[in-house]
Order: sequence, then structure tokens, then C-alpha cells
Amino acid sequence: MIIKTAKFVKSSSSFALCPVASMPEYSFIGRSNVGKSSLINMLTGNKKLAKISGKPGKTQLINHFLINDKWYLVDLPGYGYAKSSKMNRYIWNSFTDKYLKQRENLLNLFILIDCRIKPQSIDLAFMEDMGENSIPFSIVFTKADKISKGKLSKNIQIYKNEMLKNWEEMPNYFISSVVSMAGKSEILNLITEINKNTVFENKKKPKRF
Ligand code: GTP
Ligand code: MG
Repeated sequence: MIIKTAKFVKSSSSFALCPVASMPEYSFIGRSNVGKSSLINMLTGNKKLAKISGKPGKTQLINHFLINDKWYLVDLPGYGYAKSSKMNRYIWNSFTDKYLKQRENLLNLFILIDCRIKPQSIDLAFMEDMGENSIPFSIVFTKADKISKGKLSKNIQIYKNEMLKNWEEMPNYFISSVVSMAGKSEILNLITEINKNTVFENKKKPKRF
């Protein structure tokens, strides 16, 4: 797929304020600092499109980017543990939760995981929640340039083993690096396929498959 245009549309502080759900939409979520905004910039070939930062918590709103005037990429705020909470629950803006569970044109969610770290209960709990709510998702293991190939495949095997304790099969996954551009064509190919296979029966209600 060739990305001809990538335009910032708006930042929304609530579900209701998001753009009309009339086009296919693909969103990026994961813990703060995992590389969501960087990945959107890598996919679109525009380093300045989504704001990135070395400090966690940069993205605080739901950010829509219109691609080729036909579909959206969405940069979401990261989730994290509540500082005061001892519970193993992810927390975030409640509007992100509502967005994920009610956005009817959200065709695939990319859940980003730092490939260097062992499985974290916060990410596993989040994926369970997405599964229970039938939200289609893929995993993206980010920052692959930061470890050796051997370590990377070992970490992914560890992740698969952990996932298979609760899932019948390992969800679809990608390996990415904004330095080597790994994962770019694979992720864009998936989006192309989903776009092809999705019928918008009326302008507001696409059919998830
Ligand atoms: P929040 O908006 O705070 O939730 O963070 P985010 O998930 O959007 O992360 P962001 O894209 O801002 O990146 C966080 C840091 O990781 C930045 O310093 C990026 O340059 C760095 N980073 C992201 N992806 C990669 C990657 O593939 N390789 C390397 N080496 N660094 C990366
Ligand atoms: Mg961000």
C-alpha cells in the first residue's frame, strides 16, 4: 500500500467528540512509552505526524489521522498502573475504554508490547478484556532494534507460552522497529486486506468480520 496523504484530523477528549464513524479505523494502544505514536509516524512516513516523547504519558487524547482520505489511524493514550493502587488493573482515561468498546468502525486494534520485557500482567489483563468484548486485535512487539535477533525470538517464544495458558492460539502478531522499519509493510498489508474485506452497509455501520 502506498500512503499518499496522512492528515491530522482532531484530538478528542471523549468518545462523543470523535469524528463520525464513517470510515475504517485502526487504533494503537499499549503501555505509556511503548512506541504507539512512533509507530504511526513510521507507518505514514511522517516523523512529525504524531507527537512522540521520551517521557511516558505524552499522548493524552484520542488522536485521529486520516490516511489517503479513506481510513483512520488512531493514536490512543497509553495505559499504566495507578500509582496508589495495589490492584493488577490497567487504568486510563475512562473515555478510552468507552471508545474501544463502542467505536463501531474500529476494525483492528494494534496492542503494542515492548519486545524486551517479559509478559506483564497489565497487558495480559488488557488483552483478556479485549477478547471478552470481541474487539479484534493484533499484537505488535516494538523496539526490535534494541535487542539481538536471538534474544528477540526467545522473548517472543516466552510470550507465546504465556498467552497459550489463556488463549487457544497466539493472536496475530508483528515485530516492529522504527529504526529498521521492520513491520511496516506487514502491518500495512493487514490494513489493506481488512479494508478490502470490509463492507460498510451504510455510512455509519461497518461490518466487523
Ligand atoms: P505515550 O504517548 O507516552 O503513551 O507513549 P508512546 O507509546 O506513544 O511512545 P512514543 O512513540 O512517544 O515513544 C516513546 C519513546 O520510545 C521515544 O523516545 C521513541 O523515540 C522511542 N521508540 C519508539 N519506538 C522505537 C523503536 O522501534 N526503536 C527505538 N530504538 N526507539 C523507539
Ligand atoms: Mg504517544
